[in-house]
Amino acid sequence: MLIAGNWKMHKGPGETAAFCAGLLTYVGEQGMEELDRIEVVVAPPFVSLHAAVEELEESGIRVYAQNVHWAEEGAFTGEVSRSMLIASGVAGAIVGHSERRQYFGETDESTAHRGAAALEAGLGVIACVGETLEEREGDETEDVLRRQVGAIAEAIPEPGAALSIAYEPVWAIGTGKTATPEMARDAHALIKSIYPVERVLYGGSVKPENAEELLSQDDVDGALVGGASLEVDPFTAICETAARLTRS
Ligand code: PGA
Repeated sequence: MLIAGNWKMHKGPGETAAFCAGLLTYVGEQGMEELDRIEVVVAPPFVSLHAAVEELEESGIRVYAQNVHWAEEGAFTGEVSRSMLIASGVAGAIVGHSERRQYFGETDESTAHRGAAALEAGLGVIACVGETLEEREGDETEDVLRRQVGAIAEAIPEPGAALSIAYEPVWAIGTGKTATPEMARDAHALIKSIYPVERVLYGGSVKPENAEELLSQDDVDGALVGGASLEVDPFTAICETAARLTRS
């Protein structure tokens, strides 16, 4: 199981270092054995990656960026390349988050392009898909997922263990609404039926209170956590649930 914290536009370097120190205290108390059963990732903003990498070095907790560009370098204002991330000790990147798609013009194609390039460079990738409320209400969820996952499959025909898909229904992100466990299970099963990806994470208002019921569904292989990843206690509570479910 993989539990990833997507911090979005929260936490500068100082707050990042403080959070990571708190995370290490938790790891120290739990012992590595507990945490070894799952993979834990935090994804701070670009300017805080260095602080997180320094703090979490040798902890087993990996640091991802929230985006990555496919080119090596060039005239791409505001973008960051794969080799820049690697040189900073970053282990992977989230691509195609719905907020990137909604507010910054990210498309199925650019998401796939970013993901393929990052994997090729040896980075881990969490590629996000998910339907909007209108699409769900219009009974278009399956078509949307087929289209979004199809674009990723075309660019990455043979997904290895380094790629995870995150199913994040857009209407459940930051709203407090979660997909029912059945909705999550069905969407994850659909994704796996059309694409041989090993791991499909669920995202959208995951918190300690609903983590167990979501993470115990078939085909739910972890979580991409936004709001509840900003404090050490709820984030580590979700990690603990994942570790417990992995043991049993
Ligand atoms: P949320 O965000 O947990 O705050 O809903 C999830 C995400 O956007 O990755």
